[in-house]
Amino acid sequence: MCGIIGCVGRGEDTLSTLLHGLDQLEYRGYDSAGVALVGDGDLRVAKRAGKLDALKAVVGDRADLAGTVGIGHTRWSTHGPPTDGNAHPHCACAGRVAVVHNGIIENYQALRDELAADGHEFDSDTDTEVVPHLVEASLEAGRDPEAAFRDAVARLEGSFALACVVEGTEAVLVARNDSPLVLGVDDGATYLASDVPAFREFTARVVYLEDGEFARLSADGWHVADAEGTRLEKSVETVEWDAEDTGKSGYDHFMLKEIHEQPRALRQCLRGRVDELGGSVTLEELPELDLDRAHLVAAGTSYHAAIYGAELLCDVGVPATAFLSHEYATAPPPQEDATVIGVSQSGETADTLAATREARRRGAETLAITNTVGSTMARECDHVCYIRSGPEIGVAATKTFAGQQTALNLLCEYVSPGPIDRDLIAALRDLPSDVQAVLDGSDAEAVGEAYIDSDAYFFIGRALNYPVALEGALKMKEISYKHAEGFAAGELKHGTLALVTPETPVFASVIGDGELARKTVGNVKEVEARDAPVVAVTDGRSDVERYANHVLDIPETHPRAAAILANIQLQLVAYHTAAKLGRSIDKPRNLAKSVTVQ
Ligand code: F6R
Repeated sequence: MCGIIGCVGRGEDTLSTLLHGLDQLEYRGYDSAGVALVGDGDLRVAKRAGKLDALKAVVGDRADLAGTVGIGHTRWSTHGPPTDGNAHPHCACAGRVAVVHNGIIENYQALRDELAADGHEFDSDTDTEVVPHLVEASLEAGRDPEAAFRDAVARLEGSFALACVVEGTEAVLVARNDSPLVLGVDDGATYLASDVPAFREFTARVVYLEDGEFARLSADGWHVADAEGTRLEKSVETVEWDAEDTGKSGYDHFMLKEIHEQPRALRQCLRGRVDELGGSVTLEELPELDLDRAHLVAAGTSYHAAIYGAELLCDVGVPATAFLSHEYATAPPPQEDATVIGVSQSGETADTLAATREARRRGAETLAITNTVGSTMARECDHVCYIRSGPEIGVAATKTFAGQQTALNLLCEYVSPGPIDRDLIAALRDLPSDVQAVLDGSDAEAVGEAYIDSDAYFFIGRALNYPVALEGALKMKEISYKHAEGFAAGELKHGTLALVTPETPVFASVIGDGELARKTVGNVKEVEARDAPVVAVTDGRSDVERYANHVLDIPETHPRAAAILANIQLQLVAYHTAAKLGRSIDKPRNLAKSVTVQ
């Protein structure tokens, strides 16, 4: 999704600060980029389709591109293809105003027709371009830049994080509605960005903007105001991670680093929340929750965590169902007693926000399970439980999935009407070291290599291992660009078995030696009989090894923890497959880290 950066007070480092911010925002996914700077009263803009290197090449050739106030943008196309002309910033006719935008302006066509009738000429296919023209029209009517910007924003419908600079004004004007924006404040300099990593190197002190708020950043400082221009009190918070957490620390890819960070991430998630002796779970942010019923809403990987969480809740006697958030937002089931749990790494996914907002509109109690402190979902829901995974830069979610699974286990014990599951508590205590054992002993690289030429991969698992199968397939698709499908193991024979051949490896998660494991082994035999290669992810308690071409071991533990460990083996298989194929692992084609449009 589009990324925004801006800064004031960095003097001659303004351009390099913007470019650094854009580098840090690359993980969100983009197809073009640009900057606008105001210096000595003049406004200068540079933008290019393609990767940041293309923009940097242009910037390097432009000695005039200097200034003390600036905004920058990485664009993820929604209206019009990724061309130089559609890249942000967008300017108005007289070139006095430049705007960057994340979100979608729903009424842009009507505004564009109106502006065109008044003689405004448009250069791009974007919805964004109406904004600088609206600002320009207001400036021409005699309004000052701040008022002109507010006038323009008042005409917009849809979602937007906007930053605007105006020729002759050494300030950045900012507005937010439904798309994330955060300010970074420091002595002398102020920043704004879609996400904290863009400026974390310079400051840890942040101010989260709310929907409907405006901000003005200038050499004199910063302030936040409402739509009428009335100043608002805002609290300054401090982020707890440092800039190094957003570096690769010697790994080839962020994804591999984040896979290896899982022991630490899970330790953080569990820290101070489990009292093994007393046999209790404390979630300090939550009040006592009385869950009669739960609806978990999420998208993508987080949806797989939601399926896992729903199964856990049902296990402890709380009826729970997982829903795709985009479906739930438009067709929620009529169970008004349900607490709605939004599961979202970013806390900014538009589909999931739409679902939690719909729930709030109907009067339901809402709870966010998220990694992102200060995110929109964290602020809008009645309650929040943080997964504490630390920043995740790779587009493919890894450590945050394990963090969501772990936090859902804690939530489940926290709300469980019955006695605490002491075996689970012991398994959670050992989880970080069990994850380390998987990482240290995994044969996933050899497995990835063995099946590198396969055109399709299938993943199967039952119960808690069903979301593991779905997630294993999603990881493989996202980063290797190979066809992959995940199934509840019992479902394969109801159709997809027709596709199973000696060229299609089947990954089966088989945990324990109970009835579920025995049935999954039966499904494995079915594919083995069709000469499909089998990769078993197992704790070695079933006899699935007999039918498997490869085995990926996990330590023996509680079945809920086993599902977390099994997934880590599949993350590694996807990673090594994609690495051998030379794919763009951290920024897979067409994908964005934070999907802020519906
Ligand atoms: C896959 C992935 C996506 C996200 C989905 C929801 O690796 O990262 O499928 O899980 O876009 O994002 P969040 O969790 O931020 O709501």
